[in-house]
Amino acid sequence: MAEDLYIDKTLSKEEKYKALLPQIEALVAPETDLIANLSNVMAALKQSFNFFWVGAYLTKENQLVLGPFQGPVACTRIPFHKGVCGACYTRRETILVPDVEAFPGHIACSSESKSEIVVPVIKDGEVKMVLDVDSDRLNDFDEVDQKYLEQIMKLAENWF
Ligand code: SME
Repeated sequence: MAEDLYIDKTLSKEEKYKALLPQIEALVAPETDLIANLSNVMAALKQSFNFFWVGAYLTKENQLVLGPFQGPVACTRIPFHKGVCGACYTRRETILVPDVEAFPGHIACSSESKSEIVVPVIKDGEVKMVLDVDSDRLNDFDEVDQKYLEQIMKLAENWF
């Protein structure tokens, strides 16, 4: 298969997600390896939306451990009860943070990060990983991001 993405930069955010979803599905369909697929998903999201930081934290060794990502270097380990990622792990639901400074316990891997969305992947009753997306602009994520990032992360349930 051709490993190319076609996303028209003039599309609206929702149209971009709609165009991207089937392309991600096609990209990951022939592969079952977790790291391979997560790596391509992070690259596809970065390429399509130019997010400041997008990556995975995987549940391992009783904490969240950095997985495939795109963007600046980041914290490697997050306790289950710390930060937005820990809150997502504990609450088992997507967390939208319009202003990271207003989120108690937010972990600032980069001082440039201003808003954030974190989406859990739950399989067999366990949170297997969280997808973390950061923006260098305030209030940059909404229910459109939530809807489509949750759909994309549904695919990841198959890789655990
Ligand atoms: N801000 C996250 C930490 C991960 S970095 O943003 C990549 C948090 O509060 O959990």
